[in-house]
Amino acid sequence: GRLNLRDLKAEHLGQETVFRARLHNIRKLSAHLMFLELRQQTATIQGILHEHGSVSEHFLYWAEHLHVETVVRVRGIVQEPKAKQGEIIGVSIHNIEILITEMHVEAVPTEPLPFTVHEAEVTAEDTQKEGDTRHRVSDRARWNNRIIDLRATGSQSVFRIQSGICQIFRSHLDSLGFTEIHTPKLQGAASESGSSVFKVDYFGRPAFLAQSPQLGKQMCIAADMRRVFEIGPVFRAENSNTHRHLTEFTGLDLEMAIDEHYHEVLRTLDSTFKAIFKGIYTDYRHEVDIVKEQWPSDDLLWLDETLILPFAEGIRLLNETGWKDEHGNALPEDEDLGTRDEIQLGRVIREKFKTDYYVLDKFPASARPFYAMPDPYNSKVTNSFDIFLRGQEILSGGQRIHDASMLTAKMEALKMDPKTMEEYMSGFEWGCPPHGGGGIGMERILMLLLKLGDIRNASLFPRDPRSLPY
Ligand code: ATP
Ligand code: AMO
Repeated sequence: GRLNLRDLKAEHLGQETVFRARLHNIRKLSAHLMFLELRQQTATIQGILHEHGSVSEHFLYWAEHLHVETVVRVRGIVQEPKAKQGEIIGVSIHNIEILITEMHVEAVPTEPLPFTVHEAEVTAEDTQKEGDTRHRVSDRARWNNRIIDLRATGSQSVFRIQSGICQIFRSHLDSLGFTEIHTPKLQGAASESGSSVFKVDYFGRPAFLAQSPQLGKQMCIAADMRRVFEIGPVFRAENSNTHRHLTEFTGLDLEMAIDEHYHEVLRTLDSTFKAIFKGIYTDYRHEVDIVKEQWPSDDLLWLDETLILPFAEGIRLLNETGWKDEHGNALPEDEDLGTRDEIQLGRVIREKFKTDYYVLDKFPASARPFYAMPDPYNSKVTNSFDIFLRGQEILSGGQRIHDASMLTAKMEALKMDPKTMEEYMSGFEWGCPPHGGGGIGMERILMLLLKLGDIRNASLFPRDPRSLPY
């Protein structure tokens, strides 16, 4: 019958099998013997073409002239490798091979490929290996030819894990009584920062692409939906190229009414993250291990009792180590951290507390958007937090201002015009319960969990200021 290569096991030895695969690599050993590496999503397997064993000389000649990345349908016998023919490069099923008896071509590449999937999988480490003469494909070339790059077993695994993260996020929140929502992405005002908003022409009027579902999700709380979440697109006109910013990404957001304390929100988010980590490391173990072949990393370290550090204490920790900003000064306790400082704090915390996952709470008011609730006992800070993974931000969240006059005053102080958000404002004017929430960058959590090095590796068809294909 037909089967997935990744399901092949010792119990299949001796059986005949039929499957579809890509020709990953072709190696001719002699006029009588060839090895075809066959690839199917997250698995590659060695196929043998042997004149005496299975096929004619004619067949061998034909197969030798096939191009890699051809889609073939293969019939063959599952067998134990007859001889160690050197290491197969890439992730493969090592203890099983296929003695090919028949092969049909189903689709051929008609244009030359900019690089092969076999080459896309080359790591820095591989280039040091003797006998591996493949050259490394640049990251930009991979992203510019994304379809080929996505065929690699590493990328295939990354996007299965991405799917896993969304599924766990959804099912965990569902189990906590949250309702999934879909808020509009066309809106009349910016919600985060005016500078990073995409403006579009809306029948002659200006409109903006949503920078987060912030306004909509809060409006749902004003509409008594109590607990809501959304998985949806987020647009940011960040005109710069960093390893961790996209112009369009996917937000995993939630918003909930608070009973007593905004840490109820933090606990909900924390349990969601832990469900994600546990779920990925158990149900997606196979994929995680494949990703590690292309992007080496250690499994994440996290604590049963999550470390929650006040922001100012985090700054003090850094300053105590003698860390200085770009200008040689100690870091101030009332300003946002830069990327370089964040990463260093991550190192200090890992050393001291043995965790890659932690919370910085009580962010300075100056570093937060208009909707952040000030700490009632210290107006310089807010009841808001960021969550970090391996020293980089994966989430912002906290309590929101739910009092209409307080919100109006805050917006006016920031020179914002409440009239541009009338519908949002009326939610508070008509009474809104205390609430809070948070937003996770899906590509950020994926990039940092798997140490993919660049956020584009965690985005299917990445959007950054330089690329806007199809
Ligand atoms: P968010 O928009 O959620 O706050 P973020 O994690 O990038 O995302 P920011 O507050 O935007 O957090 O920025 C944190 C740090 O990241 C900044 O202090 C800056 O060092 C760096 N940074 C942010 N945006 C950019 C950018 N567009 N280009 C270069 N560096 C940036
Ligand atoms: P914030 O602006 O921090 O918060 O965004 C939430 C999370 O989204 C991710 N993120 C990004 N990922 C990729 N490319 C970007 N340009 C980018 N910008 C942000 C980060 C970040 O932590 N409304 C609030 C959330 C809330 O309070 O509920 C918000 O949007 O992982």
